[in-house]
Amino acid sequence: MEVPTPRLPSFFFFFFFFFFFTRRRHPYSLFRTLFVCMRVCVSQMEGNDLRGLEKCILKSEALHQYILDSTVIPREHEQLKKLREETKARIPKRALMNVPPEEGQLLSIILKVMNAKKTLELGVFTGYSLLATALALPKDAKITAIDISRACYEIGLPFIQAAGVEQKIDFIESDAVLALDKLIEEVKEDELYDFAFVDAEKSDYWIYHERLIRLVRIGGLICYDNTLWLGTVAHPPDPQAPAFVNRMRDVVAWFNEKLAADSRIELSQICIGDGLTICRRIA
Ligand SMILES: C[S@@+](CC[C@H](N)C(=O)[O-])C[C@H]1O[C@@H](n2cnc3c(N)ncnc32)[C@H](O)[C@@H]1O
Repeated sequence: MEVPTPRLPSFFFFFFFFFFFTRRRHPYSLFRTLFVCMRVCVSQMEGNDLRGLEKCILKSEALHQYILDSTVIPREHEQLKKLREETKARIPKRALMNVPPEEGQLLSIILKVMNAKKTLELGVFTGYSLLATALALPKDAKITAIDISRACYEIGLPFIQAAGVEQKIDFIESDAVLALDKLIEEVKEDELYDFAFVDAEKSDYWIYHERLIRLVRIGGLICYDNTLWLGTVAHPPDPQAPAFVNRMRDVVAWFNEKLAADSRIELSQICIGDGLTICRRIA
């Protein structure tokens, strides 16, 4: 049953509400009150029919470009930009592995809002997300960054140094599972991590998760990258797609189901980049 739209009585309600609760001494406040009341009533009478609208933001490549041009690229740190360009120039075939700048921007805000000081980074590559993290954290923060190979990190390192944040990073060249097991042995209960960003081997994500639940404090965040896997998780395997894309599609979809059923976390799937799942440890 459709809920009836409030009409004229609401005009009087809003009018008296705004009139008595705004400053009445200045004539502007009376005009403002009238204007706001009229606007509220007109919008109620129109009955804003939202059927047929979608909340999905990225409807086109042009919209993505608009987001980049309007709010992301103009605010991208100079050294992040240089690192991204150097990666494209030196390793064009794999440059897509850097997290996109809009995702770096989101990570930066999350880290600042939660006041993170001790973080983990699994899967460094040339270090775009690592540099975005290092720039967002305070001077006395520490990032433990793990990658199976140091070679690509060396490409990004000059930009990390130029940004003046190298001292925040402890780089460990190792398989991530082995490194996490070692950290679990060493870490003290009152020194757990605030935040982890996971972008290493997708088929190991659940193994990482079981370990990160022990390393990240309750209330801390674990963020998993690529959880929409080029959008493939929503469709049956595509026979035209490269075999690794379909293989990983199944792995990522399975991981997403496991995460959604995990009562130790609350989570949110963000439609940014290749999909980012933010998990907050609650148990
Ligand atoms: C997608 S890239 C990371 C991109 C990075 N977050 C950025 O923004 O530039 C994935 C990285 O994971 C690393 N990796 C793959 N398997 C790994 C493993 N078993 N342990 C640790 N790192 C691994 C690869 O060497 C690669 O550098």
